[in-house]
Amino acid sequence: MNILITGASSGIGRQLALDYASDGHNVVVCGRNSEALSEVQKNHPDKITCSSFDITDKASTKEALAKVNDIDVAILCAGVCEYLDTNNFDADMFERVFRVNVFGTMNCVEAMLPQFNPSARLVIVDSLARLLPFTKAQAYGGSKAAMHYIARSLEVDLKPRGIKVQTVSPGFVKTPMTDANDFEMPMRVDVEFASQAIIKGIRKGKRDIAFPWVFSSLLKLMSIFPESLQVKLSEQMARKQSS
Ligand SMILES: NC(=O)c1ccc[n+]([C@@H]2O[C@H](COP(=O)([O-])OP(=O)(O)OC[C@H]3O[C@@H](n4cnc5c(N)ncnc54)[C@H](OP(=O)(O)O)[C@@H]3O)[C@@H](O)[C@H]2O)c1
Repeated sequence: MNILITGASSGIGRQLALDYASDGHNVVVCGRNSEALSEVQKNHPDKITCSSFDITDKASTKEALAKVNDIDVAILCAGVCEYLDTNNFDADMFERVFRVNVFGTMNCVEAMLPQFNPSARLVIVDSLARLLPFTKAQAYGGSKAAMHYIARSLEVDLKPRGIKVQTVSPGFVKTPMTDANDFEMPMRVDVEFASQAIIKGIRKGKRDIAFPWVFSSLLKLMSIFPESLQVKLSEQMARKQSS
């Protein structure tokens, strides 16, 4: 298969690229950091090619992705996380997070759709943070909830073209993104686990690939509680984090 992965210079995307290439697939790894991408490529020089661009720059994204043909699976994994400090409310932070997680991802979709194979898969990485009103996660969780909605709605409209849309909703995964967190991260898994869960889910055609199972089941259950109860539970988690 020909696989394209954004956010492949680090963390989950990097591990996915290594695992797919080890399995003999051709992988285009994307990110801004060309040095980090070259490091990934060195592991499988015959299978991995690099494409360096900033997904928030629509022109560069279009130019780079126009060169990539015959995509069977596109995994849009590039993302950023920032938390809100309500004592120092920063509206620009919302813009920074949404610019990458939502608008950047949409730049990739626009650039790639014309080159997709008729039975291609579009895989959008959101987060289990989309499910509940977590403390300080207004921008990040909001951007991921938006991405999940967009993906489901794209699923409806791309189906007639044969394109299958799948979402990935990870819990905590140990990557440079979560290494920056200073709070307890329950049931955090490593990138190897995350990558295998995603690869298996894509292969099986799962609509939403959520993991780890216990954590995602708990959060999915809590997400159907009344909103007042969801807020109470989040308040408890916030108190635990700050104590
Ligand atoms: N780790 C977790 O616990 C967790 C949980 C749920 C969901 N996720 C989601 O999983 C995805 C991967 O996260 P990760 O933990 O692997 O994070 P990570 O190690 O920080 O990787 C983020 C990737 O996104 C790329 N990226 C960021 N901004 C970009 C931009 N403007 N243009 C192009 N690429 C950009 C980075 O590449 P460059 O720096 O080279 O541009 C990097 O490869 C994200 O969407 C994240 O929200 C992660």
